Amino acid sequence: MNMIELILSRHSYRGKYLPVSVPRNDLREIVEAGLAAPSGCNKQTTSLIAVDDPSVLEQLYTAIGRPYEGTAPAMICVVTQKIMAYADRTFYIQDYAAAIENLLLAIVAKGYQSCWHEGDITGEDSEKGSQMAKILGLPADHMVVCYLPVGIAADEVNPRAKKPFAERAWLNGYQQEWK
Ligand SMILES: Cc1cc2nc3c(=O)[nH]c(=O)nc-3n(C[C@H](O)[C@H](O)[C@H](O)COP(=O)(O)O)c2cc1C
Repeated sequence: MNMIELILSRHSYRGKYLPVSVPRNDLREIVEAGLAAPSGCNKQTTSLIAVDDPSVLEQLYTAIGRPYEGTAPAMICVVTQKIMAYADRTFYIQDYAAAIENLLLAIVAKGYQSCWHEGDITGEDSEKGSQMAKILGLPADHMVVCYLPVGIAADEVNPRAKKPFAERAWLNGYQQEWK
């Protein structure tokens, strides 16, 4: 599969996972892909914690408020720090978004599935993210902003519909048809 085919084959997976552990080497390669992402002013504000210890996973899923049964045997927690890139500008959100996309693509490239879980643990649900941070032993200036399950899908992966190309992409100007 080439890179474009890989990108097009990634879909959010929210089903159950097979109880097959993810080799540490695979987790390491996935995490390395995440860390290779670009970052504003190269501040590298994103850090990653891979979790494959069942007792830690169970605590994390309890904090998230989801049953641990049927979840992926590994998880990558995306951690950020609101570091100034220059003057009063921060790019930490862009930084971790770029890292997450790299992670998701690497996860699919290795034969696993995942889903970007951010809304679940931030905003109104930020107490869940704070609890996860406590479980992981993060310092006070670090936040968990997203978690990515990693495992082999037990169910089918169902693509979400995307808007038609012509509604979101144009050539040489706004709403100019691609010919
Ligand atoms: C910033 C962001 C936050 C997201 N948070 C969640 C989430 O909390 N729970 C969830 O199930 N999916 C979450 N998603 C996944 C989106 O729902 C998903 O990407 C979207 O429906 C498109 O589907 P696709 O990933 O298969 O292309 C999030 C995605 C992004 C980019």
